[in-house]
Amino acid sequence: MFRLRRYRVVLVCAFMITVLLYHVSKNSQWDHSREIWRGNMGPDAQARPDPRPPPPPASDQGHKEHDAYGTEKTQDQQHGPPPPSPSVPDAEPNIRIPQLKDTDDERGDYGLPTEPATLPEMKPGTRHNEYSGQNNDGGVQVPPDAIPLAIHWEKPFEWFPVPEESLIPLPTGKPKPIPSVQFSFAEESPAAREKRQQRLAKIKAEAQHAWAGYKKYAWTHDELTPVTKRAKDPFCGWAATLVDSLDTLWIMGMRDEFDDAVAAVKEIDFTTTPYREDIPVFETTIRYLGGLLGAYDVTGNDPQYRVLLDKAVELAEILMGVFDTPNRMPILYYHWKPAFTEKPKRASTSAGVAELGSLSMEFTRLAQLTGQNKYYDAVARITDAFEDLQNRQNRERGTAIPGIFPEHLDASGCNRTAPPPSSLENSSEAARAQANNDDLQRAPAGYEAQSAEGFILDADVRDNTGNHRGPQKRADGPPDSAQTPLNAKGLPANWDCAPQGLIGSGWGGTYSMGGNQDSTYEYFPKQYLLLGGLEPKYRTMHEKTVEAVDRHLLFRPMAEGDPDILFSAKAYTSDGTLDKMVYEYEVTHLTCFLGGMFGLGGKIFDRPKDVEIGKKLADGCVWAYEIMPAGVMPEFSHVLPCKTRDGCHYDQEAWYTALDPLAERREADMAEYYTQLAEWKERVEELKREHALQKQADERARQDDSQRQAAAETVRTSVPTESEDSPGALKEKIKRFQDSFDLDSDGTSGPNQQPISNELVLPPAPVKPSTHQEYVGQRIKNEHIPPGFVTLNDKRYILRPEAIESVWYMYRITGDPSWQEKGWRMFEAIITATKTEAGHSAIRDVTTDDPGNDRAMEDSMESFWLAETLKYFYLLFETPDVISLDEWVLNTEAHPFRRPT
Ligand SMILES: *[C@@H]1O[C@H](CO)[C@@H](O)[C@H](O)[C@H]1NC(C)=O
Ligand SMILES: *[C@@H]1O[C@H](CO)[C@@H](O)[C@H](O)[C@H]1NC(C)=O
Repeated sequence: MFRLRRYRVVLVCAFMITVLLYHVSKNSQWDHSREIWRGNMGPDAQARPDPRPPPPPASDQGHKEHDAYGTEKTQDQQHGPPPPSPSVPDAEPNIRIPQLKDTDDERGDYGLPTEPATLPEMKPGTRHNEYSGQNNDGGVQVPPDAIPLAIHWEKPFEWFPVPEESLIPLPTGKPKPIPSVQFSFAEESPAAREKRQQRLAKIKAEAQHAWAGYKKYAWTHDELTPVTKRAKDPFCGWAATLVDSLDTLWIMGMRDEFDDAVAAVKEIDFTTTPYREDIPVFETTIRYLGGLLGAYDVTGNDPQYRVLLDKAVELAEILMGVFDTPNRMPILYYHWKPAFTEKPKRASTSAGVAELGSLSMEFTRLAQLTGQNKYYDAVARITDAFEDLQNRQNRERGTAIPGIFPEHLDASGCNRTAPPPSSLENSSEAARAQANNDDLQRAPAGYEAQSAEGFILDADVRDNTGNHRGPQKRADGPPDSAQTPLNAKGLPANWDCAPQGLIGSGWGGTYSMGGNQDSTYEYFPKQYLLLGGLEPKYRTMHEKTVEAVDRHLLFRPMAEGDPDILFSAKAYTSDGTLDKMVYEYEVTHLTCFLGGMFGLGGKIFDRPKDVEIGKKLADGCVWAYEIMPAGVMPEFSHVLPCKTRDGCHYDQEAWYTALDPLAERREADMAEYYTQLAEWKERVEELKREHALQKQADERARQDDSQRQAAAETVRTSVPTESEDSPGALKEKIKRFQDSFDLDSDGTSGPNQQPISNELVLPPAPVKPSTHQEYVGQRIKNEHIPPGFVTLNDKRYILRPEAIESVWYMYRITGDPSWQEKGWRMFEAIITATKTEAGHSAIRDVTTDDPGNDRAMEDSMESFWLAETLKYFYLLFETPDVISLDEWVLNTEAHPFRRPT
């Protein structure tokens, strides 16, 4: 409370000074920068940054449910983009007034900043001294730091440093000989060259189209929204598409565009963002850090482009803060504001395997380029933890499938079921830990999860003797009463807990090569290459992985024409053992990288069988593209597996049964229906008989009536007097007659119509249920299900690269030109389905043959479209010496790093 009120006073002052400054500087240099930005504003230049909380990371898994078999189904893998947000910063005024928050709206005990919206408007490249008054000509003297307009990351105190002498150094020595990856291509014929170059030009034209749209409508923002022609910033607004595309521009020979982009990179300020409270560490590493390093490498580390490396270091220095935990396992969503970074933290108890394990290549390459072992140390410790887990069986809270990992891991290093060492007063263990001064093995108790990601102390950590172990006391720190007793290390007294390695989160476990796991496995062989074969553990880890995948996850789908193809299933165990394993035969676009991984590992570790598996995996994804009406594979679906991988014949009846798990009940329903129908018919006959009898009786009565009327008529014509059949009485009679038919009051059978005859009203017939055949036919028709597929859970295609990635690896590895033909068909189908006026867009439904109309577009063009998908297509038709796999190794975002020679 106290702190927030103080903060408010500061904000009010800031507000007033800001207004003053704004007026003074209207004609100053600020106009210059405003001009620059306005020139690139989209139509929504007045829109405010999206104050909504940031979207979950792209690799997050959606909620799970169980199907009729009890198999786990993942409904929504949330690979998609975050909801579109008109998050283009203001063109004018350049400075936004911080919103004042009600102090009652205090969030948590951590002095959490209340809202992203309290940040001023910031743009990439605007450092806070530009707001401080130093730049203006008006001569107003304002101390630069008096205006907290933007909060910036600051280098925090390090709680758990690795002593210099304990750093794990980059392996050194002469790189080991590694078998070549690429096929030894022969000279191509002039005809082949011409065809290839034509295709290459078409692919480049699409990249130019997408880049032009980004430049025009979303320059320096994270993403173009290719339908509405705006920008959005899901990745902190540091120009994700721009950074991610750099090496693609270089490879495609778009040097002017490359130089423009490098100039913009200089202006990126990684120390602040108005868009997010937390930095998504995995995405930031693979896209931004990988993008900068890949771009620097493709220039041949040209000193002219040194800024790329400098920026990579700038970003990495911020990211290094995530490793400052007792066991050096990283925080994966880094709350970057000083109020958070200054506190001791602990890694998540539920960390995604992919996010934890896919930082290694980028930090390794950075260590190589800078000679700084600390970057390598940071990721080497994660590898070591994975190596330990890979070999630990489930009875030791390890893995149920040795070789691969459960999808979510407790990386906190803290065994909460064991008593903390400090509670074992003067026990030998506690004494030893103390004597070793071994911070790295300590773990806390008394922590609270910080949005399931990392742990932050429940109270500020300070030492009132002035003997600071932690950061200096901050002006906006908590009142003194919040102090807790400290231990000898300046940490709270309750910090200790028993150490443990990586273990699965919870007792069950999900195992797959899909979105939450993929790139951790992908990086084992790639790290081996990047390190020149000098670290053998990456080889053994890869070999254990592929053996486990081959044995437990790969399956052949049952498909028309019996193609010999493979996919990787998802396995789920409820109790952490192999006995209880249930399989889900999923086909997901993300898993399509696997062909490339098997192919690459098969070549460099001389495992020809793996190359063959890689081909079948790559062909599986090609099949999934070609079988869809749009010619593009859906994001997430299920197929029917063959009984074995060796032989399999397409069996339509089996497919129908898979499409209709209730087939047997449908038979019972049908029998029931026939019984009801027979009863109904009997009843109808009975009613008809009754009705006929009634009709006869009515007829007789009517005849009697008319005889009486005729007699009356005779009387009336001879004696014209009033009778009981006077006009009034007759009308009344007709009305009664009509009422007896219960006529509608809406006049449809109103008084002007002939009275309808007294019809037989029958009871409703029983509704015929669908037969198994009918039901299946309806499903296939309504859901556009191609043969072999069982469910199409997510029909989108979001411009993903993994399928063409594997096709490219297969082409470079085998030299078989049929891969180019497969890739070309994919390219044409994708462009037809996704092209918009401003770029290319994710589409909603690949099961229709016209997904490319505006209404079926998702309005999203993620940065991997230019960084990966178009790059792989391009490289498939480039000469094989361009980004040769014998000289380069690509990170999971397709950024090429130089292999050591
Ligand atoms: C945690 O501690 C308990 C009790 O000492 C022990 O039985 C268990 O094996 C430990 N768990 C791990 C993963 O080390
Ligand atoms: C533990 O050891 C310390 C010093 O080594 C001593 O002061 C303290 O009394 C001991 N505590 C117990 C419970 O024996």
